[in-house]
Amino acid sequence: MEQNPTIYKLTDRTFRRCKRLIKSGEIVAFPTETVYGLGANALDPKAVSKIFEWKGRPNNNPIIVHFSKLTQLDKITNLTYFEKKVMNIIANVVWPGPITLVLRASNIVPKEITAGKEFVGVRMPNDSVARKLIDNSECLIAAPSANISGHCSPYTSEHVFNDFKDRNLFILDDSENRNLRFGIESTVIKLEEKSSSIINITILRTGIIGGNKIKKILESNSIKYNIDYYDRKCNDTVVMDCPGQLFRHYAPIIPAFIERNYSNIIVRQSFIKKYVIISANNSLNEYKDICLKFLDLGCTLLDVAKNIYSILRLAEKCIGAIGIIISIKNLDYMKDIDSDIDLAIHDKLSRCTEGKFIKIIK
Ligand code: TXA
Ligand code: MG
Repeated sequence: MEQNPTIYKLTDRTFRRCKRLIKSGEIVAFPTETVYGLGANALDPKAVSKIFEWKGRPNNNPIIVHFSKLTQLDKITNLTYFEKKVMNIIANVVWPGPITLVLRASNIVPKEITAGKEFVGVRMPNDSVARKLIDNSECLIAAPSANISGHCSPYTSEHVFNDFKDRNLFILDDSENRNLRFGIESTVIKLEEKSSSIINITILRTGIIGGNKIKKILESNSIKYNIDYYDRKCNDTVVMDCPGQLFRHYAPIIPAFIERNYSNIIVRQSFIKKYVIISANNSLNEYKDICLKFLDLGCTLLDVAKNIYSILRLAEKCIGAIGIIISIKNLDYMKDIDSDIDLAIHDKLSRCTEGKFIKIIK
């Protein structure tokens, strides 16, 4: 029998079907305020294994559990008194929202979710559709981004459809809240009391909510803390604390490069006609008429976050393109000190290009 994904309108009947599917160990793709998730019952190991299989995801990569009420965390976490206090303080400010907290897990959490480690990532999404799915199905929902492992994350229901063309996947429509989506994944931070009454915060993945914002929350509540950004290792042979931080990630299917004035890789202007240029705030405008296709990311960091995955997906489909050249250098001066959106965008770009730069010469 032919397998096809289907996009369903957001009716009561659709949510009743979602409940039945989730309860019986099936998968539902749903929108969140960051990117689409590929969801299944988090406490059903078989259902979670199916997510790994469908995505082609390495099984050493843990999965975020989505919930809609803080009390749901009691059964899946195992926190010290102080960790719980700090978690509640942070949660009060940031949830629902685009941030995942990695907390010590209780032993009811399947090892498929934690990748066999002692911690579980949890997130309360700020999206009415995601919340309705969680509430209606009466389950905690495990969900990675709804893309084939390693490919660009999905911003729209069509992106999910395209990645899972051969699967009988139930996809919830993305029309509600369309303009409220950030487009890049949640910030991921690990929270642990290592020495008494001092909280250790490790930012495992940068995102819209920045390290500075977390510092301010802790300081205004007189919490002692250490805070660090996880240092990404530049190869895939090291066993990582956060296995999702692979060097090649979020990548289009043709080679992509970041444009730089210093680079060993060069391309002559006369060859630019074989490249797609992705530009923010008019950078590389001088090649607009001679490149194969010129795609505009917008003028602000928020625009770039919203558009980056959609534009990379458009670029990889350009017939005849041998590569993609990306430039966001005209945005480097923009910075909101409470957000790490700039770091997050640079991180996505360096992974999707595998750190490759290119210089355009005459
Ligand atoms: O915005 C998001 O976070 C989206 C939406 C659907 O919620 N989800 C998402 O999931 O981006 P995924 O699996 O594509 O990325 C989750 C990241 C991975 O890098 C994973 O390694 C890390 O979070 N992570 C999840 N649970 C973890 C844990 N227990 N310990 C360490 N890292 C964890
Ligand atoms: Mg992902």
